[in-house]
Amino acid sequence: MEILKIDDISVAYGNIRALSNVSMSVSEGDIVALIGANGAGKSTLLNAIVGLVPLSGGTISFSGETICQSKHQKLSTDQIVRKGIALVPEGRHVFADMTVEENLDMGAFMVRDQSLVERKKAEMYDFFPILGMRKKQKTRSLSGGEQQMMAIARALMSSPRLLLLDEPGLGLAPLVVQDIFNKIRIINEENKVTVFLVEQNAKLALKTSSFGYVIENGKIVLQDKGESLLSNERVQKAYLGA
Ligand SMILES: Nc1ncnc2c1ncn2[C@@H]1O[C@H](COP(=O)(O)OP(=O)(O)OP(=O)(O)O)[C@@H](O)[C@H]1O
Ligand SMILES: [Mg+2]
Repeated sequence: MEILKIDDISVAYGNIRALSNVSMSVSEGDIVALIGANGAGKSTLLNAIVGLVPLSGGTISFSGETICQSKHQKLSTDQIVRKGIALVPEGRHVFADMTVEENLDMGAFMVRDQSLVERKKAEMYDFFPILGMRKKQKTRSLSGGEQQMMAIARALMSSPRLLLLDEPGLGLAPLVVQDIFNKIRIINEENKVTVFLVEQNAKLALKTSSFGYVIENGKIVLQDKGESLLSNERVQKAYLGA
């Protein structure tokens, strides 16, 4: 079943056209990757899904319901998060002066039931033990990898059905990136969260994903199974350094 459907969307920042007639779809339960060079429009696409940038054309639907539409944005970002989509933004955007625990609380802003919030936090400390050990510590004292784990945990606090990850490996050592991708796989397989991720490390992204899209200059230029893209000559030349 299709959980996310992006239908012919365009986005412009003033005169700069960042996305041109992009269509794609994500099936429930999958991990789908979007790869592309710097400035191709990857973050713009993720931000558009959660209503952070307006569409100049097209529609985005989640679980069959239109959530974003050009001219009149259908739902606010808050409402979209409540529907079950969570974004881990590029560069993580953690609240550095807050503790780990306070950051996780922020991720559950829409959860009224305090006992559920406590249960979710316990679940996160279980899943990312380092966060449990550092829960009273200010976030700025965490390493980059730990901050990324925390940003993912914060997004999971809202129990999303669809998790959007914008370059989870950015600026991290290869082993840490590997660790984060292992966690992403578990979140997908065990918690049944659909994942749509943007990643510069195309090899790792495509290995992890069942399906992938390639974006160039705001347009989707290729789409195929992850493993097929890995062996695609154009992808190898442009993104895999082959
Ligand atoms: N707030 C903005 N105002 C004006 N132009 C923007 C804005 N945000 C992005 N752009 C432009 O839109 C295009 C797409 O940017 P975007 O950040 O989506 O790319 P990206 O694929 O995420 O790149 P990166 O890999 O560097 O993160 C770029 O040309 C960028 O300069
Ligand atoms: Mg980006």
